[in-house]
Amino acid sequence: MVDTIWVQIAAAAISAFVLFKVGLITYRRRAFPEPHYDWSGIDTSDISFPEGFIWGTATAAHQIEGSQRNNWTDFEERTGKEPSGLACDHWNRWREDFELLSELGVSSYRFSIEWSRLEPSPGKWEEGALGTYSEMVDDLIKRGIRPMPTLHHFSHPSWWEDRGGFADRENIPEFLGFCEKVFDRLSDRVQIWCTINEPTVFSSMGYTLGQFPPGRRSILLTLRVMRNLMHAHAVVYRSLKERNPGCIIGIAKNVTLFDPANRWSPIDWPVARLLEWLWNGAWRKGIMTGKMLGSRIPGAKGSLDFVGLNYYTHFITGLFMPTSQKDLNFAKRDHEVATEFGYPMYAEGLRRAIDFVAELGVPIEITENGVADSSDSLRPEHLMRHLWVISEAIKDGRDIRSYHHWSLMDNFEWAEGYKMRFGLYSVDFETQERTLRPSGEIYRRVVGSKTRAD
Ligand code: FCB
Repeated sequence: MVDTIWVQIAAAAISAFVLFKVGLITYRRRAFPEPHYDWSGIDTSDISFPEGFIWGTATAAHQIEGSQRNNWTDFEERTGKEPSGLACDHWNRWREDFELLSELGVSSYRFSIEWSRLEPSPGKWEEGALGTYSEMVDDLIKRGIRPMPTLHHFSHPSWWEDRGGFADRENIPEFLGFCEKVFDRLSDRVQIWCTINEPTVFSSMGYTLGQFPPGRRSILLTLRVMRNLMHAHAVVYRSLKERNPGCIIGIAKNVTLFDPANRWSPIDWPVARLLEWLWNGAWRKGIMTGKMLGSRIPGAKGSLDFVGLNYYTHFITGLFMPTSQKDLNFAKRDHEVATEFGYPMYAEGLRRAIDFVAELGVPIEITENGVADSSDSLRPEHLMRHLWVISEAIKDGRDIRSYHHWSLMDNFEWAEGYKMRFGLYSVDFETQERTLRPSGEIYRRVVGSKTRAD
């Protein structure tokens, strides 16, 4: 009799334990879904895109134009980092470079406007430089390529940095003045605009990790800059819409996913959750509700006509998250391939990122996606996997309008200098010769053949 009771108690305890474990696993799987596909069973050439789907490439002014004088060149000099120097000398070679776009057959080009060229000192405008951007726009349009300018892609004038840049909300009217000036000149021909590139990368690299200008390391300052960037975006969005309501205005948001190194660790998953919130969730909430990190941001709610999505990877996080770039030791799952940058290739995450931004309820433009791969050994597969993911997402009803490959050509990769080669065209920085890589040829063929007439 006594024995039976103990057996029953033991059985009940084991069942309760098993149920608890199963429940916890299910909860954590739900809370941290991290799908990994069996790519060996997937034919990534089996892709098709709706008629009107827009193919493009992306660049940024400081990374390609050369001979800049801005917050970045100051930082390069101050820290002894590799100088951007002549970069791709694109400022003098843009006509030839646009020929490369035509060779690829793309119909959209995302680039950025260098504020420091237009307003090298406060209030002194270089009309000639603005004229050059205007000529670029005309040339693109003549080629049947949609110009998609970004108004702030990490670089701005030194004088504005000296005033505190985005760390001080008082400076935002000056940024707005620049945006209005460019918009007034180009918006008769340019329909689609990105306000700011990757606000979270800008704030965390510049103010937490200290690897971008101004090289600060303060969490409080980072949070302030995040709010101010949202504020700046909202102010610019509202003003430009008023000036020309026909234009389509969005932002380019880097969605990096954070996955706990070990789902069972009571430390890893709260860390992943927190970082995911700070990087992605707080930003999306800002756009959806007008409130971000405890502050009300006037005009932010609904301030997007489209969302630009930049996607590269997921970060596998644990207790010892690096607080400086030099400690960055990108973790990867055993079966994942590390890219030259160090972080893993994780194309599955693009679907998660798409689903995440889809909640905003506006069309999605993929404004960046690509890989550092100097030997071009990974890029073909990387490209096809990501395109396959997009093709499937569209089949499942996601409203994705475009894909811009990062990048048209090798260029100055910020804190990494010229080591990281992201181009569909390789660039010989001695001779400035551009050469189409095999992956560029693959992209050219996709652009020419994978759009179906519905
Ligand atoms: C993104 C940046 C872009 C480029 C790629 C590799 O975060 O927006 O300028 O450096 O990474």
